[in-house]
Amino acid sequence: MLQSFNKINKVNGELELPGDKSISHRAVFFSSMAKGDSAINNISNGDDVKSTIECFRQLGVQFETKKNEVIVHGVGYKGFNEASSFLNAGNSGTTARLLTGLLAAQDFSSTITGDESLSRRPMLRIAEPLRLMGAEIELSANKTLPIRISPSQIKNINYTLPVSSAQVKSCLILAGLHVNEQSILIVKDETRDHTERLLNLKSEKSDAGWIISFSQKDYPFAQDYFVPGDISSASFFIVLTLLLPDSELLIKNISLNPTRTGFINVLKQMGANIIAMNTSVSNNEPFGDLIIRSSNLNNVSIPLSIVPNIIDEIPILAVAGIFADGTFEIKGVEELRKKETDRINSLTDNFRQAGLSVDEYDAGFKISGRVTVSQPQFNSFNDHRIAMAFSVFSLLLDTGGKVDNFECVKISNPEFFTQLNSVIR
Ligand code: S3P
Repeated sequence: MLQSFNKINKVNGELELPGDKSISHRAVFFSSMAKGDSAINNISNGDDVKSTIECFRQLGVQFETKKNEVIVHGVGYKGFNEASSFLNAGNSGTTARLLTGLLAAQDFSSTITGDESLSRRPMLRIAEPLRLMGAEIELSANKTLPIRISPSQIKNINYTLPVSSAQVKSCLILAGLHVNEQSILIVKDETRDHTERLLNLKSEKSDAGWIISFSQKDYPFAQDYFVPGDISSASFFIVLTLLLPDSELLIKNISLNPTRTGFINVLKQMGANIIAMNTSVSNNEPFGDLIIRSSNLNNVSIPLSIVPNIIDEIPILAVAGIFADGTFEIKGVEELRKKETDRINSLTDNFRQAGLSVDEYDAGFKISGRVTVSQPQFNSFNDHRIAMAFSVFSLLLDTGGKVDNFECVKISNPEFFTQLNSVIR
């Protein structure tokens, strides 16, 4: 569907967003693995988390869905059934990678598949360390999905991750939760720590990076979860509010996990007026309310070490950078090429579409010049974050703009359009 967006004047009001996608995935994993019932409140309603739930159904877990709450009847340690067909992770890298770690430690075989985009994404990053743990993993000739996992004897690991990735880290933790001996992971840059928080794992900062240790004693137990609102979904509304005059938005019960709020720190350095209040903690995950007010933004230099923290927000940060004073430039973001699309390509292609000048590097890009094209038509490349970033871009242009295949926003936020309309004034 080609969606048109006309220029808007301001936003004002209040939003409460469905639960964070990364935390929701993990709450489904841990409650499926635990023995007994867990309730997950405010679970993400996006397609990615539905993919995780469907995979666990195939493995014998029963779910009862009530509005935005899911009751999970967990099967307990090694209580899963062998799936009768392939497990389809859809578009979701988190589902595919975390599931591989969990299934590597089961006493049956599994095959994980995914959609066209997920089938292009690199899987050697999990297969290599899992093999060091004794796992039997087969990838396609391109080192991608489908992944075939055969039963094996899993042992502990002491491993430094070559890429600072929360998905790789969580995959290895899930396998290591089935081994008595302690495993140790070292992750150079800080990455999202939801797995560590929900499982209460030991995680310490050292000169080499973050050191995380875990073993079978950390295996999850049944508990209820409240999933705070998705901070990545909020980022689109935050940037829109900052860039429009006379605008103010209250976003309630949003995740304020410090491994996810790097983009708020960058925006604040750029001059953004964002205030957090009513902070609280649930399942070790901090959350609270944010008040965002119109601000004049200036581009700043973005440090390399913060990249894993802001990786999913770079598309919308780049849009903010275009409307800020100075030039937007980002480096050290080679991981962007390995997301749902090659996001360096998806972003730079669309910025050129609007008439902007773009310098594209292997691991970054710089944008300058002005928008010269009237009513530009943007390509979502079927990537939810690209679709939402260019919807915001279009809403800020005098001529408005269009985004194709807009419906892909349902991967993380099916209600994006409704939420947007509820705050436009
Ligand atoms: C995620 C980790 C990040 C992020 C992705 C979700 C997770 O990926 O980009 O959207 O839930 O663990 P990487 O760990 O590959 O950087």
